[in-house]
Amino acid sequence: MLQSLKAAAYQLPGVKDLVERHRAVVRERDALRRELAQARLRVGGYRPKPEPPPLTAAEREVVDAFHRLYYARWEAGVDTISIGWFGHRTLKCPLDLWTYQELVVERRPDLIIETGTRFGGSAYYLASICQLLGHGRVVTVDIDDSVRRPAHPLITFISGSSTAPDVVARVKAEAASAQRVFVILDSDHRRAHVEAELEAYAALVGPGDYLIVEDTNINGHPAYPSFGEGPMEAMQAFLQEHPEFSQDPRCERFMLTLNPRGFLRRAGG
Ligand SMILES: C[S@@+](CC[C@H](N)C(=O)[O-])C[C@H]1O[C@@H](n2cnc3c(N)ncnc32)[C@H](O)[C@@H]1O
Repeated sequence: MLQSLKAAAYQLPGVKDLVERHRAVVRERDALRRELAQARLRVGGYRPKPEPPPLTAAEREVVDAFHRLYYARWEAGVDTISIGWFGHRTLKCPLDLWTYQELVVERRPDLIIETGTRFGGSAYYLASICQLLGHGRVVTVDIDDSVRRPAHPLITFISGSSTAPDVVARVKAEAASAQRVFVILDSDHRRAHVEAELEAYAALVGPGDYLIVEDTNINGHPAYPSFGEGPMEAMQAFLQEHPEFSQDPRCERFMLTLNPRGFLRRAGG
């Protein structure tokens, strides 16, 4: 039935051309991906030590004071959190991007799912790491498709709300053939939305891989105290129900992170 409908649709005016053009684009993209895989860098054997010693209360105070200053400077219009990767804007702390690089190189995910694309700089950064690694690709979702974003053969953009059933289904279809998946939640930071994203996407992350809840620092942890319940509260509720995930302390060894306790590793692997 489906086959005969497809065959009939193929005969409609313009459809054959459209299908052929789509196939050509896919062939070109796949050829580019193969070419990129040839240009990879060699991965070395260095791994950071697993358990950095915890901060003392006095050290924590210093780090939190710096964090608040770093954030306040951004709110005042200084580009501390708005940074460039190859001229593409991303809303990240450079220390977190370094952590991402280490995790991606170590785990070699087949697919990185990002909710919240914004200017596309973070997806471009992750795709660059995949490119240098010769492995993996990025699927990124944003509700706002009015922004011009950088294209890359390893990035697939999906337009829509990250919790809309059709979007979740598209992301899951992209993940169907991936063994190792990272999920990065960086869209609407209100608690209910982050909880819904965790519900939709956490199960895609397999043993040993990472689920990253971004911006757990807001609502006073220690920045932006007036935000209201957000990623930190959603993540804490999620962890109560999901002991298979736990915070990876290595990911906070630089001390300043916009995702405190938000780098979650799934046990095993
Ligand atoms: C914090 S920005 C993302 C920053 C980006 N990941 C980076 O690091 O550069 C949040 C983005 O989430 C998008 N967003 C807000 N609500 C959303 C939703 N329900 N689904 C998907 N994206 C959403 C916004 O349009 C905005 O572009």
